[in-house]
Amino acid sequence: MSLASGRYRSQFCRSARNFISDFETAPVPPSPLVKKGLTQEMNIQDAYTDWSITYDSDRNLTRDLDQAVTKEILANRRYHTVFEIGCGTGKNTALLTQLGERVCALDLSTAMLEQAKRKTQSDRVLFAIADLTKAWPCKTESVDLIVCNLVLEHISDLSVIFSEAHRSLVSGGQFFVSELHPFRQYQGTKAKFQRGQETIEIPAFVHHLSDFTESAAKNGFSIHSFREWWHEADQNKLPRLVSFLFEKRYVA
Ligand SMILES: C[S@@+](CC[C@H](N)C(=O)[O-])C[C@H]1O[C@@H](n2cnc3c(N)ncnc32)[C@H](O)[C@@H]1O
Repeated sequence: MSLASGRYRSQFCRSARNFISDFETAPVPPSPLVKKGLTQEMNIQDAYTDWSITYDSDRNLTRDLDQAVTKEILANRRYHTVFEIGCGTGKNTALLTQLGERVCALDLSTAMLEQAKRKTQSDRVLFAIADLTKAWPCKTESVDLIVCNLVLEHISDLSVIFSEAHRSLVSGGQFFVSELHPFRQYQGTKAKFQRGQETIEIPAFVHHLSDFTESAAKNGFSIHSFREWWHEADQNKLPRLVSFLFEKRYVA
């Protein structure tokens, strides 16, 4: 069992036993730093360990817009069980505790999860380490809502995510995705942060709009909502974010 340790584990343990199945975390092999002048590329886990310290305080219009978008789309909905995949520092986790009776928030990075635990007080949240490219730590058809913000650019194969989302969700369950818009990716935008004079870039994969819709359709989802979003500082620019609310098709 490889759940987050400490207070959250003990508080959530009884219900978590039914909710989370045993799973192993797979270590991600470190990749060498790639130096390009004052830009370095770091592997995803190392990069988020480093970024976790300043992720919440850095100027980041994409992070801020994503929070507003998530609130606008989800705030009036209610669910029993919510799965947040790639919760990071828990920017959206507090909102999710208002929507769901219980929330399981997963991330690859221990350092990001530590920040999330620090700011999320609810004992209805379980934080756990998990690699989303492996089997997710939940029972089949046990989740009502899956929420995924600014994560899929780090995942090369979307079908792994949609197939696990389909397995995890109850019939009619929803899958909310908010991502950096591919139009911005075409211009070279990707997740990055500053360390002194250096820019640290995090490995990212371009997913076209059709990649999302085709992967969703192939894995048994219909599209409930599809929106494109601009920050107020984005006048005359390409959309910054795209969001989808997918729904697992009812199985007769
Ligand atoms: C840009 S942050 C977004 C965090 C949060 N969802 C938010 O909106 O602020 C991306 C997060 O995805 C996580 N992540 C990336 N690849 C992952 C994987 N394969 N499995 C689990 N988490 C992953 C990172 O550790 C990081 O916390």
